[in-house]
Amino acid sequence: MARFPALIVAACLLAAMPAISHAGGKYVAPVDDPLTRKVCGECHMAFPPGFLPGRSWSALMRDLSDHFGEEVVLPAEQAAQIEAYLVGHAGDAGTGRGLRDFMRWVAPDGVPRRITENPAFLREHDFPDRVWRDPKVVTKSNCQACHTGADRGWFDD
Ligand code: HEC
Ligand code: HEC
Repeated sequence: MARFPALIVAACLLAAMPAISHAGGKYVAPVDDPLTRKVCGECHMAFPPGFLPGRSWSALMRDLSDHFGEEVVLPAEQAAQIEAYLVGHAGDAGTGRGLRDFMRWVAPDGVPRRITENPAFLREHDFPDRVWRDPKVVTKSNCQACHTGADRGWFDD
C-alpha cells in the first residue's frame, strides 16, 4: 500500500519523458478527430475509442441526454459525426488500434458504458480506496491524474 505513491510518481515521471523512452509503456491511440476531441474532452479526457467496442460508443452517443447524470447537448449532425469516428476506431473495428486485453472481457452482446468497469482495467487498478478519494484523483475515469501522457496515448505503468 505504502508503495503506491511511488508508482504514481514513477508513472508521472515516465509520462513526462520524450516519446522514445516509452518503449515499455502501453500506447493506446488517442482521439485524433478535432470535433470529438473538443466535445468529448470538455468534462474529462476524450477517451481513446479503442477501449470500448463500437456498439458501446453508439449507445453512449444515443443517450447523451442522460450521460452519467449529465446532459451533453449536441447538434444531431455533430453527434452523428462523432459516433462515426468513435465506431470507426473502436476496440472491435479491426483497425489494430483496439485493446485486445480489454475486448477479451466484453461479451459478444455486451454493451459496457464504462472503461473503468472492464476487468482488465480493474486488474491494473486494484488500489486502496484512499487512492481514489485523493482530491487529485476523485474518480477512476480521471486518467490524467496518474497518466499524465494519457491525452497523447501513453498509459505507462
Ligand atoms: C457535460 C460533461 C460531459 C461531456 C461533454 C462528456 N462527458 Fe463523458 N462523462 C461525464 C461524466 C460526469 C462521466 C462520469 C465520470 C465518472 O463517474 O467518473 C462521464 C463518463 C464517460 C465515460 C465512462 C468513463 C468510465 O468510467 O469508464 C465515457 C466512455 C464517456 N464519458 C464518453 C463521452 C463521450 C464519447 C463524450 C462526447 C460525446 C463525452 N463523454 C462528453 C461528463 C461528460
Ligand atoms: C489513481 C491513478 C490512476 C488512474 C486514475 C488511472 N490509472 Fe491507469 N494505471 C495506473 C497505474 C499505477 C498503472 C500501473 C499498474 C501496475 O503496473 O500494476 C496503470 C495501468 C494502466 C494501463 C496498463 C498499462 C500497461 O502497460 O499495461 C492502462 C491501459 C491504463 N492504466 C489505462 C487507464 C485509463 C484509460 C484510465 C482512465 C479511464 C486510467 N488508467 C486511470 C494508475 C491510474
